[in-house]
Amino acid sequence: MASRYAEVHAAWRRDPEAFWREAARAVDWIRPPDRIFDPASGPYGRWFPDATLNICHNALDRHADGARRDQVALIHDSPVTGAVSRFTYGEMRDTVATLAAVLAAEGVGYGDRVVLYMPMIPQAVFAMLACARIGAVHSVVFGGFAAAELAKRIDDAAPKLVLTASCGVEPARIVPYKPLLDEALRLARHAPARCLVWQRPQAPAGLVPGRDRDWAEAVAAAERAGMRAACVEVKATDPLYILYTSGTTGLPKGVVRDTGGYAVALAWSMPNLYGVAPGEAFFTASDIGWVVGHSYIVYGPLIHGATSVLYEGKPVGTPDAGAVWRVCADHGVAAFFTAPTAFRAIRKEDPDGVLRRHHDLSRLRTLFLAGERADPTTVRWAEQGFGLPVVDHWWQTETGWCIAGNPAGLGLLPTKAGSPTVPMPGFALKAVDEAGAEVPPGTMGALVIALPLPPGALPTLWGQDGRMVDSYLSAFPGHYETGDAGTVDADGYVWVMGRTDDIINVAGHRLSTGGMEEVLAAHPDVAECAVIGMSDALKGEVPLGFLVLKAGSARPRAAVEGEVVALVRERIGPVAAFKLAVAVDRLPKTRSGKILRGTMKRIADGADWALPATIEDPATLDEIGLALLARGLPAERPAVSPAVPGPETSR
Ligand code: COA
Ligand code: AMP
Repeated sequence: MASRYAEVHAAWRRDPEAFWREAARAVDWIRPPDRIFDPASGPYGRWFPDATLNICHNALDRHADGARRDQVALIHDSPVTGAVSRFTYGEMRDTVATLAAVLAAEGVGYGDRVVLYMPMIPQAVFAMLACARIGAVHSVVFGGFAAAELAKRIDDAAPKLVLTASCGVEPARIVPYKPLLDEALRLARHAPARCLVWQRPQAPAGLVPGRDRDWAEAVAAAERAGMRAACVEVKATDPLYILYTSGTTGLPKGVVRDTGGYAVALAWSMPNLYGVAPGEAFFTASDIGWVVGHSYIVYGPLIHGATSVLYEGKPVGTPDAGAVWRVCADHGVAAFFTAPTAFRAIRKEDPDGVLRRHHDLSRLRTLFLAGERADPTTVRWAEQGFGLPVVDHWWQTETGWCIAGNPAGLGLLPTKAGSPTVPMPGFALKAVDEAGAEVPPGTMGALVIALPLPPGALPTLWGQDGRMVDSYLSAFPGHYETGDAGTVDADGYVWVMGRTDDIINVAGHRLSTGGMEEVLAAHPDVAECAVIGMSDALKGEVPLGFLVLKAGSARPRAAVEGEVVALVRERIGPVAAFKLAVAVDRLPKTRSGKILRGTMKRIADGADWALPATIEDPATLDEIGLALLARGLPAERPAVSPAVPGPETSR
């Protein structure tokens, strides 16, 4: 079908408020919006300032009380535990209402924060919705983060309650979550009044008397007492959640998501971008700890009345590279969304797609990729193998939904491999030079979005309006700085080439090299350090650390290298995938003392590099090259990492 994108985009351009007023009709409001946008409040304005609603009502009750009561809302498919369970909208609403009553009985109310440190189990989804039901603000922390990272988030969000499970189940090991939470609470300054613990049979946890409570027992008692919490009326501008994401330092940014704008943006995206109808199955293979999981495992599909698949497994190894196709077939999935890393992992093990052919994928219409740059080789492999459209779309934790994509529901536009296609309505995107002037089509620049950001995007950072302005709104006045570099070509297609800051993407997981450097620098024998993102054929990028030992340090270099690797795992978590540190005599620097990270990355990637004119001592780069060579680097590998190596001297 011919794409309606141009027409829809033009309608938004012509009258953004009318566009979002119309889109807002997909949401059930308690008080419908009269005003659409208030430019005077918040760092850049607020959407639907006078409206009220409850997003849990939109995600559950309106379906449970209507025609979808017996339709499956959530399927938990867990190859790591060998279980599949299904919950209808009716069942899920009742479960969530009871859990919400438990939270309320623990003193959690409107505006209170609740931290979730949970694996991919249905209780995690119930908990998010239970918070939303009573107007509490949830903050989910990804399970692959270590205790110290969890502690930072607990201190910033200051939750009344923490919800956890006794363990996560990774293919090769059980991850006991509860000891990590106990350690985080030991490290944190803030002490939540209560922890609710979901006991899993794989590794039940010990409970701290007076602080910890058994989740299942609490729910059972509430059920016996007939306790159910009703949906609380909240303002559209009230925070629904805080999601911490990597910034340039070790201090994560608490991205705030408001309630009404988010509901409207997700409701618009489900039919128009993803082309999914209510009642169809939507499978996002991400984690509820990431923004993709918040938006398209939990809120988007449920608001739309679709069936969402919650997958506790990996693309490979649980049990094989056909796992996600088995899930798509078993649950009649219409749209599948994952990160390019997952496709690269599948391609590596099953290049000819043999395992895929064992499964009936006749209901699968579209594959969506996001989270990192989709390398054209992987996209082509998937397109040719499946004979299905593969939609790369670009977004960020901050934006909450897609900045640029190919709207399947409006009719797909022709694709250009390597481009996530075109901006979605609401995102007035341009590439600009350092002075903020728009660059000609096809010219590389900083990708910025003219304010206001659309509904669904962050209104601010938690408790930090000033940091919001400093981090995103001050470099290019009147614009949001995405932190990505790229181009917009003559056809309006967007090309995202890489970050302009210290953020790297490891297997679709966003990490801060600055945060890792803080950990390395804390080692008593380390004088100086630099962490860069090195191209990796599977994970896109992996971190690589360089260190200079303190003068007089008597420790063997190899010992310190091993210790900093262990330290990053302990302080940041296994998700950082920090496996290699290299000690050198000196780091390459400019004459003004800035570390030449960009050139180091090029050397590690085996890319062409030129001697920077400002270098203090060229021999330092030779040392880097030789040290890497001794470790078999750069390895021969397809270039999947961003074409832009990031800033040369960002710190
Ligand atoms: N809880 C605890 N630990 C976790 C975890 C969780 N929720 N998720 C990951 N980890 C651990 C892993 O066990 C692994 O630990 P290890 O070093 O002991 O092996 C480490 O963190 C790195 O995990 P991961 O990035 O998943 O790498 P992997 O080598 O285990 O698997 C892939 C590789 C490609 C299969 C995996 O990265 C993947 O599925 N990627 C898709 C990414 C994705 O969906 N991103 C979402 C953004 S849209
Ligand atoms: P996160 O906040 O974890 O979603 O990470 C956001 C960052 O991931 C973006 O700023 C980009 O650098 C990168 N990213 C996400 N999706 C894409 C994509 N489709 N193409 C290129 N980069 C992407």
